Amino acid sequence: MIEDKQRWNERYEASPMPEHVTPIIEKYIEHVNVGQAIDLACGTGRNTHFLAAKGFDVDAVDISDYALKLVKNSPTINKIDADLDKYNITPKKYDLIVNMNYLNRRLVSQMKDALKPGGVIIFETFIVAHGDFKIPTMNLDYLLRKNELLHSFIGLDVIYYEERVDTNLKGERVKVASIVVKKG
Ligand SMILES: C[S@@+](CC[C@H](N)C(=O)[O-])C[C@H]1O[C@@H](n2cnc3c(N)ncnc32)[C@H](O)[C@@H]1O
Repeated sequence: MIEDKQRWNERYEASPMPEHVTPIIEKYIEHVNVGQAIDLACGTGRNTHFLAAKGFDVDAVDISDYALKLVKNSPTINKIDADLDKYNITPKKYDLIVNMNYLNRRLVSQMKDALKPGGVIIFETFIVAHGDFKIPTMNLDYLLRKNELLHSFIGLDVIYYEERVDTNLKGERVKVASIVVKKG
């Protein structure tokens, strides 16, 4: 959606994203065969840069052209300016799919089909929460339900799953779910 592009460009101009890799990727990267990766909704590329440094070829997809300009130019990083509401992930192409702080349920079955045998998905984003929690949006389309990731990736081997309370960049309490799954 054009509004998404504009909204995210404005958000990035107002407050830059952190540059450190998401901890769950750093922790589980050793479970993945180095090869072809895709970073869905890559933002300014903190995880893309980490994966490229580890030797992956990375397709880095985002709708924000402002953010993509901040992704490093490298022969092993393929920047894709696309709307993930419409973009289709190539089947059987990836050793690793990462999806951090973004939810698009349309992509779940495509993510499973896009893995090579032995391929891994690392997925982490916010869960709907009540009471003393900050949620990034009131739109339930963008928030996970309890245990949703476990159900979404049924059929794959679960290496790790957790729902936890975390702290966002502003020091506010948030609820997050994380999963690492492998195609057998
Ligand atoms: C919270 S940021 C997360 C960025 C990155 N994954 C990270 O953890 O640093 C969410 C990202 O989703 C992207 N995004 C939102 N809607 C999108 C869409 N329809 N298609 C592609 N990217 C989208 C935004 O531009 C933004 O970069």
